[in-house]
Amino acid sequence: MCGIIGYVGEEHALPHLLEGLRTLEYRGYDSVGVTVSLGGEEPLLTVKTKGKLRELTEKLKTHPAAADGRCGIGHTRWATHGAPDDKNAHPHTTRHLSLVHNGIIENDAELRAELREAGISLLSDTDTEAAAWLLDRLYADSRDPVDALFRTAERLRGSYAFAVIFKDRPEVIYAMRRDSPLIVARGAQGCALASDVPALLRHSRACARLPEDTVAILRRDGIHAVNRRGFAVSLPTEEVAWDTEQAQKGGYAHFMRKEIDEQPDALRRTLSPRIRDGLPHFSLPSLDTDRIRRVRSLRMIACGTAMHAGLVGKRLIEQLARLPVQVEIASEFRYRDPLLDPAGELCVFLSQSGETADTLAALRHARAAGVPTLAIVNVVGSSVAREADEVLYTLAGPEIAVASTKAYSVQCALLTLLALRLALVNGRMTEEAVRACVRSLCEDVPAAVTATLAMSDRIAALVPPLAACEHLYFIGRGIDADLCTEGSLKLKEISYIHSEAYPAGELKHGTISLIEEGTPVLALMTDPSLSAKTLTAIREVRARGAHVLTVTTAALADALSLSAENVLLLPAIPSAAALPAPFALFPAACALQLLAYHTALARGCHIDQPRNLAKSVTVE
Ligand code: G6P
Repeated sequence: MCGIIGYVGEEHALPHLLEGLRTLEYRGYDSVGVTVSLGGEEPLLTVKTKGKLRELTEKLKTHPAAADGRCGIGHTRWATHGAPDDKNAHPHTTRHLSLVHNGIIENDAELRAELREAGISLLSDTDTEAAAWLLDRLYADSRDPVDALFRTAERLRGSYAFAVIFKDRPEVIYAMRRDSPLIVARGAQGCALASDVPALLRHSRACARLPEDTVAILRRDGIHAVNRRGFAVSLPTEEVAWDTEQAQKGGYAHFMRKEIDEQPDALRRTLSPRIRDGLPHFSLPSLDTDRIRRVRSLRMIACGTAMHAGLVGKRLIEQLARLPVQVEIASEFRYRDPLLDPAGELCVFLSQSGETADTLAALRHARAAGVPTLAIVNVVGSSVAREADEVLYTLAGPEIAVASTKAYSVQCALLTLLALRLALVNGRMTEEAVRACVRSLCEDVPAAVTATLAMSDRIAALVPPLAACEHLYFIGRGIDADLCTEGSLKLKEISYIHSEAYPAGELKHGTISLIEEGTPVLALMTDPSLSAKTLTAIREVRARGAHVLTVTTAALADALSLSAENVLLLPAIPSAAALPAPFALFPAACALQLLAYHTALARGCHIDQPRNLAKSVTVE
């Protein structure tokens, strides 16, 4: 979850490092640092600081020599071991080397004790420094960087991506990884490595993922990789389909806002390749007719927002295809010895990044138990995508803001298509009914999301009372309750307002005791079959003084004779009443995202880099 960058080439390294770190700042942003090779007596210059890139840039002004080097590594940190301060920032420099690390070394206590006994006093509280000294000592023995790295790997438990420069080889970067991504690219002016693709696009669009159990060696004129036995390992490149412009803000104040706005396109892009003759079509063996008929149940496994998309998937698959679905929080699933049914169940792993450590571990657990696995992932070639039996990519394009928005919508859209496919094969829906849903999903849904985006100013106008509160309740029933979980998470993540999502009917069994004069409540009501029930809950909280903002459709507002005050009307999905699938979920999700965005904006929060969070959580 930290960001790693490295460059060696014809050009000065520092601008490449700083630009790479700027692109990677979303992976961690509590401290930052670089090491640049200068040659001479003191071959490596390390400059690091607590804070963000601008603090580093300031500090670099007092180290003008840093601008000269043509080889360097950099790091942007999300603290795991030790506070975010100068000494814990990376790179960590020892007698022989400078190293940056992403991941967690689980046996660092044991290594630290060993190092202490050997008379080495560590300067930081990090697990990384222990790994750096372990490598340092092994290198002192053999003076062979590749051998020392492999011998270090043998001693380490946990996850890592390392980039290292040795003092006596200042023009070479060595890299190695386990369970944390590292990508390399060769550009016209040199070679680079990074923990994520966007940081490499300025060098080349042909990127290669470094395999595990391999050491990559980057020199000015090329990259090669070797395995433990010293044999060369090929690094096949993948052409990155999106460009730097797509990974940049493109005139928006925040990535989050840009990504919310990209949803109509992301939906169309994700859906259209999966439709043939107006019906869902997945060219995957696990979703062919015979295999689907053998599926007795499904399980959605994920973390955070992706897990919330799983809730929507469960709702749709159970409703349309009548197959039971469990939703599992990945970090819980892997440790509770789940009862799995390898012959009859399909485990679906949802992840934007495809690198979330808990999701990856859960996937490995399911695979080890022999359960068929399907990944729904946004980042091409990521670990979850590669390790699952099969993968369906959501084609949302790069998502940079920590708060996930477009990835959620496209996950929901793919799960809708999956539900329709299952319903068709199981004979729960006719071809005609499925066709009508697919048409609406591909045409009406993106249009309704576009119309929701156009309501941004109206949503912003509703925000002031929310922005002033410290607690908020989201209530809804049925699929609205699922959407509330995500609406509440979005608000929490970026505005730091405490909020809870409650199924509206459950409120009276305890939580209603927290409602008092002026408590803000957001009631989401898009499901006509449950609207009367939600309305009862709205009346109950109002009677206790709650200030209720109702988000609903015009049809329901009419049917229930709601007054216009404190009501946000969502754009209609034509023929929604005739469709079995609750497509109002898409404009509703978008409205809740905008609500969170405008609330955070009104509170002056760091929208793209909320405190304590990171985009891709590659540690347990
Ligand atoms: C982090 C992010 C969340 C994200 C979750 C799962 O916690 O801050 O926004 O939903 O990880 O990430 P994934 O990449 O697996 O979807």
